[in-house]
Amino acid sequence: PTLTRRTLLAGMAGIAAASILPAKRGLAGALPVRDFALRAAPGRFRLLPAPNGQTPVWSFNATVPGPEIRVRQGERLRISVENGLDEETTVHWHGVRTPNAMDGVPHLTQPPIAPGETFLYEFDAVDAGTFWYHPHQRSFEQVGRGLYGPLIVEEAEPLRVDREVTWVIDDWRLGDDAAITNDFGGRHDMMHGGRVGNTVTINGRVPDSFAVRKGERIRLRLINAANARIFALDFTDHEPVVVALDGQPVTPHRPADGRVVLGPAMRVDLVLDLAGPVGSRAAVVDRFYEGLEYRLIELAYGDQPLRDGPPDWPLDLPANPLAEPDVALATRHTVTFTGGMMGQMVMEDMARGMAGGGSGGGMMGGMRSMMGMMHGKGIWFVNGVAAEGPMLDPMLTLERGRSHVLAMTNATAWPHPIHLHGHSFRVISRDGEPTTHREWQDTVLMAPRETVEIALVADNPGDWMFHCHILEHQMSGMMGVIRVA
Ligand code: C2O
Ligand code: CU
Repeated sequence: PTLTRRTLLAGMAGIAAASILPAKRGLAGALPVRDFALRAAPGRFRLLPAPNGQTPVWSFNATVPGPEIRVRQGERLRISVENGLDEETTVHWHGVRTPNAMDGVPHLTQPPIAPGETFLYEFDAVDAGTFWYHPHQRSFEQVGRGLYGPLIVEEAEPLRVDREVTWVIDDWRLGDDAAITNDFGGRHDMMHGGRVGNTVTINGRVPDSFAVRKGERIRLRLINAANARIFALDFTDHEPVVVALDGQPVTPHRPADGRVVLGPAMRVDLVLDLAGPVGSRAAVVDRFYEGLEYRLIELAYGDQPLRDGPPDWPLDLPANPLAEPDVALATRHTVTFTGGMMGQMVMEDMARGMAGGGSGGGMMGGMRSMMGMMHGKGIWFVNGVAAEGPMLDPMLTLERGRSHVLAMTNATAWPHPIHLHGHSFRVISRDGEPTTHREWQDTVLMAPRETVEIALVADNPGDWMFHCHILEHQMSGMMGVIRVA
């Protein structure tokens, strides 16, 4: 329900009275309740160093990113969200397995929060890990203007490190006046790789350097809050170890070809041993886009070493309480993504398909997507449908409590980070090859033409969004609803 401020205060008083005893007494088994307040509003923020001006943004609590919400696993969060914008909003707790009514999807799980109104979200932090929050109403503009923040759930026994650091990375399209260019929802961005910008910030600043000490071990929580930009971070002389993806522990491993890949909305937890020489500097470089290197930041070593070599503390995180899918007994579903500007490869495939009378949603979807583009409607399609407007019959119904495999094909010429709400899923194979690090994710980056199988136990009932997290793709059709019932 949408709450006015008055009913909210009354409601909060009631909830506080009901819950204050267990929280305060700390009875065994009682979950402490942690209260937070977010206010979305326009403001100004310094993204660029002086003499550049400040940037007009929309943000939570007047900062970019919004405040870090940090709780312990098992605690209950109670977060009031006040809408100080001129348009409706909601907040989605990306990656957190909340009850459906707390998932923050306008018209699907709640009415949008009108300007001036407040909504109270309440859910338990069942999983430890690195999560984030952002609006789900016109997110291509609301997130793009700065509305997002980190949500960290600490393990009961945190990983032993010298320092924990969160980097929320964003990508902005700024003009010479330091203002965000006013071109959200542009058709070219929708048809191509989304609204990729020209300026990358870490925690709301264009960074220069990050001070480190030789011998130090850091847990670095990376969150990609960009609308569309994909990062492939090269830590040059350093060899980070990936310990969690999308908040969920994985077998600790070095990333393939040394690059830490983060599609929009994805999180990677790294353990970084700072092994460089005292007084040296080492760049962190984004190498995702061919021929386009972007120096993000420099690790700057001070002259006081902390220790000589890396510590030999364990790297394994405790598992979260996720139900393991039974792949052999799972119900299989196929999902095909089509649309967008066609790459040469896709055109050739379509030609081949037509000539050989080849089977498949790929060709049909391709045909339909061309028709869609000609009629100026959707641009991207999930199983042949470009979703428009608010909701939407479910594209799939998953029987509750059972294991399911989604065999997904990206039949487009573009990469897509595909996100499912309300669940984490095992990524079990890519192009038919089994994965090797026990990846549990909520957002999986699919390369052009790639097939990916994901598996999950459908244990969280409700209607859940399933969409590309390149927000311009989502808004132009690349979304659907998966029902768990
Ligand atoms: Cu992070 Cu449906 O979103
Ligand atoms: Cu996409």
